[in-house]
Formats: sequence, C-alpha cells, structure tokens
Amino acid sequence: MSAVQQRLQQDQPQPFLTAMSGAVTQVSVVTTNGTAGRFGVTVSAFTSVSADPPLVLVCINRRSPVVKAIEENGCFCVNLLDDRQSTVADCFSGRSDPLTAYDFSCANWRLEATGSPCLDQANANFDCTIENAYDAGTHRIFIGEVQDAQTSGRAPLAFSRRSYQALSPLNLE
Ligand SMILES: Cc1cc2nc3c(=O)[nH]c(=O)nc-3n(C[C@H](O)[C@H](O)[C@H](O)COP(=O)(O)O)c2cc1C
Repeated sequence: MSAVQQRLQQDQPQPFLTAMSGAVTQVSVVTTNGTAGRFGVTVSAFTSVSADPPLVLVCINRRSPVVKAIEENGCFCVNLLDDRQSTVADCFSGRSDPLTAYDFSCANWRLEATGSPCLDQANANFDCTIENAYDAGTHRIFIGEVQDAQTSGRAPLAFSRRSYQALSPLNLE
C-alpha cells in the first residue's frame, strides 16, 4: 500500500467523503509558474466547462500555497496523468514527502504559452490563463481559459475507492 493510500484510509469515515470515494476521477497535477514562483498540486477536481470558448475548472483547497501562486501568476496548467505516472501524483500530493512537495525533478516538464510547466508524456495538458475564480466552502474554484491543449493519447490514471486505478474497456457483445 502506498503512503498516499495509507493516509487516505486513516481519514474520518464521514458519509460525504465515503460516498465521494465511490466516484471515478482523472488524476491531474495543476502547475503554475511566474513571479510568485513554481508550484504544483495533485487534484481530482477537474472538469470541462465550455468548448467555445474553451474553459475548464479546478478546485483547490485554499490552505494550499498553490492558490495564492496561481492568483499572482495569472495562469495554470492542468496535466492529466497517464497510468504510469502515479509517482508524479504522489510527489505533488505532498504526502510521499512533505519536504519535497514542490520538487519538479520527479518528471520532465516543458514551458508552453503561459509559462506554466507542462508535463511531458501526460495523458493531456490544458495550459490556461485565469478566466474567473470563486470561493466555495474550503476551496477556490479556478475557471481557466485554455490557451493550448495537447494530448498524447495515453491511458488515463484514475482514482476511485481511495486508490489509483487503470481503466479497461468493457467487452460488450
Ligand atoms: C488522488 C488525489 C486527488 C486530490 N484531489 C485534490 C483536489 O481536487 N483539490 C485539492 O485541493 N486537493 C486535492 N488533493 C490533495 C492535494 O494534492 C494535497 O495532498 C493537499 O493539498 C496537501 O495535503 P494536506 O492538506 O494534507 O497538507 C488530492 C490528493 C490526491 C492524492
């Protein structure tokens, strides 16, 4: 069992969290870079908002220093991980080793239009400028206007039942 799984399984079994653990989500790392510095955080709260204009959203806990950095930098990149990149998710969840939470040496990155780090070999990358942002409960919702989108066609890294998952197609007749 990974360090992330052990920590998540120690969480209080509140009905909301338990029910949410049944959801299947794509694991992503949201990165930013600029005058506020270079940061990254693992998220499952990512979704498409609109195709025209192309908008996406991510939800990040306001306790995370990444929130202030994204606000100041004015940009972020959502890197959808593939099913061989769970170590990248561990690195940016701050749970494998809190002292290296913002250590980008766990993977290769390139800089795209906004200057945010884009993960090489990711399932997909959405390089965004901030279109809007809202507080909701403990989290900050960032709506990003997509400046560039890329995909490798690789298989997604999913998260469900408090562990990483790989998807496989149903063999329907
Ligand atoms: C699979 C997974 C999904 C996560 N999704 C989110 C998310 O959507 N939003 C968020 O703010 N933090 C999310 N986190 C937590 C952050 O990555 C990070 O662990 C946290 O901000 C720092 O940990 P701490 O709150 O225990 O200090 C997720 C963590 C994991 C492992």
